[in-house]
Amino acid sequence: MDTSPRYDTVLFDLDGTITDSGPGIAQSVRHVIDTFGLEPLDDAELQKFFGPSLHESFSRHLRLEESDIERAITVYRDEFSSRGILNNRVYKGLPNLLTLLKSQGASIILATAKPTAYARRILVNFGLIGLFDSIVGVPLDARDHDKADIVRQALPARYRRAVLVGDRHYDVRAAKANNIDSIGVTYGYGSEQEIISAGADFIARDVPALTRLLCGDAPPPQGLFITMEGLDAAGKTTQVPLLKDHLERMGWDVLDTREPGGCALSERIRELLADPDNRDMTPEAEAYLFAASRAQHVRSVIAPALAQGRIVLSDRFVDSSVAYQGGGRELGFERIQRLNEMAVGACVPDLVMLLMVDLKTALLRRESATRLDRIERAGEVFFQRVYNAFLMLAKAEPDRVHCVDASQPVEVVKERLFQLADAALRAHINGCATRAAEG
Ligand code: TMP
Repeated sequence: MDTSPRYDTVLFDLDGTITDSGPGIAQSVRHVIDTFGLEPLDDAELQKFFGPSLHESFSRHLRLEESDIERAITVYRDEFSSRGILNNRVYKGLPNLLTLLKSQGASIILATAKPTAYARRILVNFGLIGLFDSIVGVPLDARDHDKADIVRQALPARYRRAVLVGDRHYDVRAAKANNIDSIGVTYGYGSEQEIISAGADFIARDVPALTRLLCGDAPPPQGLFITMEGLDAAGKTTQVPLLKDHLERMGWDVLDTREPGGCALSERIRELLADPDNRDMTPEAEAYLFAASRAQHVRSVIAPALAQGRIVLSDRFVDSSVAYQGGGRELGFERIQRLNEMAVGACVPDLVMLLMVDLKTALLRRESATRLDRIERAGEVFFQRVYNAFLMLAKAEPDRVHCVDASQPVEVVKERLFQLADAALRAHINGCATRAAEG
């Protein structure tokens, strides 16, 4: 398989190519319209502002006088830099594409008409900054820009073959003016017609097609495995969807799953484990059933998703067995770890988030539940042991098990979990790129 990149230098436009920043731009233009008391514009009209310079758009679409444009740009930038900049998401699949490209040895350069400072903030925010060799935009006080000049500045002194990836005719024309290839993407703000008329060398209708054009058939980088652990009432059910949404905004393809369960067979095992009628289940049988459900889940769901470069976010994994069966049922940590070795195989979490609430809170929440499953019916002494076991895990392996105080407000816990995931992703991206470059 040929994994060498077709291009050694790849320039990317930002808005409409890497990030879907439309909502933030539209919000900031609406703010200008309100401030100047102009006629409101509908969504289609607002879309015309995505791509050209603000100066050009404000003159053409808002029909502002030259004397007002300067002030309008300031109003726009104040709104954009404080709020609009965060109303933004990365197109799904872009982080993996950039990681793959980097691992193949390509130089990745951002060539944007946005102020360089904003572009940098956006890439930092989405954890992508480490993949870029350089970032070329315009100065904050620039009145107007010519994309061809930006591309000229962005091109390194030496390159073998370069390409510009962008979503508007400005991008395609700028590539031509600099005698480099262009790939027009049609998932952004430009139409296919616009890109064809401008003379793009290639067209990519989605990120997978763009990935094939740039990286050939190279397999995706391995995904990232995140698990969330804790007592039954720690708030995992609230936090998992919030974290999933956060990761998806960063362009990751996320699979959320749970244990016991996550696939048909394992869900059936879950029913056995939860059924209060199975009163006589022995601790040993319980431990093996959790491990059996895990063995199936790992091979049929988790490992295939990771091989596709997805992020797997699992509500519980092997550390729950260590705490509940090893600690709670007193089967011993090491025995449970050994028992799970075959179930887990090579599928070890990259990040374990442990949500801790104090035992009293957890027991109170449990008492207020309407229906308790078999495990939740175990007594307070059992949960005290589970609680102690989780604490011991966090103490014994602080680099692997990240303990978060989940008695804080949901928003605070959420931010802490986002920080942990962002840091793990940065390390993951850099690790993938470095490993591949060395290998
Ligand atoms: P859930 O309520 O978080 O879905 O989890 C189901 C119950 O199973 C919960 O009480 C914790 C328990 N459990 C274990 O005892 N061992 C395990 O390995 C797992 C994954 C869960």
